[in-house]
Amino acid sequence: MKTNQIYINRLNQLLSTYQVHYQNLRSLHWNIQGQSFFELHLKYEELYNRIQIVIDELAERILTLEGTPLSTFKDYLKHSILDENELIIDGKMGINYILSAQKELLIVEKEILKLSAEIEDEGTNSFLSDLIREKEKTNWMFSAWLANQTEKVF
Ligand SMILES: [Fe+2]
Repeated sequence: MKTNQIYINRLNQLLSTYQVHYQNLRSLHWNIQGQSFFELHLKYEELYNRIQIVIDELAERILTLEGTPLSTFKDYLKHSILDENELIIDGKMGINYILSAQKELLIVEKEILKLSAEIEDEGTNSFLSDLIREKEKTNWMFSAWLANQTEKVF
């Protein structure tokens, strides 16, 4: 299925953002310290493992649409809407990063979802719907985790 270059560029922007997010999650996984070490070390791993699959599906979707997926770090950093994180060792800061990163990703995904509906690209549309639903659910979970952390302080 052939689409236009603007559409492919938006998908590449999403791919680039996921690649930066993936590395940010690996950094969180490696550097976590404190009380929630075991809990978050595993949670971060679960997230980046899932994202690794998403990245591959997204790149192959771009190829299916006869586009070319970006594949260099130089391009990823240029096109990602997320920045590389500085070192984060604190659990609450890590979860806050994930919540804000997922909100940014959701904005891009909802924009592409709309575009995909307009051009009747149902394959991309359903893929993005899954990503959106998944992130909305984990945002709820991470918010609940954060609220619980705040309660523990008092
Ligand atoms: Fe590990």
